[in-house]
Amino acid sequence: MIENFGRHHAGIVETLSLDDESATARLAVALAGEPALCSAVIELRGELGAGKTTLVRYLLQALGITGRIKSPTYAVVEPYELPGLHIWHFDFYRFADPGEFADAGFRDIFASPGLKLVEWPQQAGGYLPRADLVLELTVQLDERRQIGLTPQSAIGVALCSRALAASTNLDSAT
Ligand SMILES: Nc1ncnc2c1ncn2[C@@H]1O[C@H](COP(=O)(O)OP(=O)(O)OP(=O)(O)O)[C@@H](O)[C@H]1O
Ligand SMILES: [Mg+2]
Repeated sequence: MIENFGRHHAGIVETLSLDDESATARLAVALAGEPALCSAVIELRGELGAGKTTLVRYLLQALGITGRIKSPTYAVVEPYELPGLHIWHFDFYRFADPGEFADAGFRDIFASPGLKLVEWPQQAGGYLPRADLVLELTVQLDERRQIGLTPQSAIGVALCSRALAASTNLDSAT
């Protein structure tokens, strides 16, 4: 189930419960249905194994990516291409020298149109632009995940609304 724990004004964290991976998949499908996603910067926060890459995988699949979706832990970035949409999946966990940000061409990527999904943004040393949406995953004692959604722009608000609408539909279906 995607459960809605509360409804607040834009800019304040919304928290949804992701009881299993299928709930993560449904959230991904909801986000993929929002046209504003095509130019969004989304940060995925949370400890090792929290489920960040899992959510990105479901999101990319929902958008139509069919091949293998690797975690970019070693490569730092994995690019994807769909008709009319560039996607970059970053994982800055092993990013040792934030000063390389510009040298590696990451500044250019963030300046160009497309969807940017960023795991471990805190390791990029403040070089990232302000994200449209911050997703924070937390592992519960029973292994279920909670996800906090913090929109930081109109794009983020649109994405957050999609997620909440999906959770409301699920609630009313039970
Ligand atoms: N909603 C969920 N419910 C239960 N288990 C989940 C859920 N989402 C992900 N998992 C499980 O959590 C494990 C780790 O997930 P994942 O690799 O996505 O974590 P991560 O946050 O990307 O970690 P890292 O920081 O190492 O990149 C996987 O085995 C996955 O099956
Ligand atoms: Mg990961």
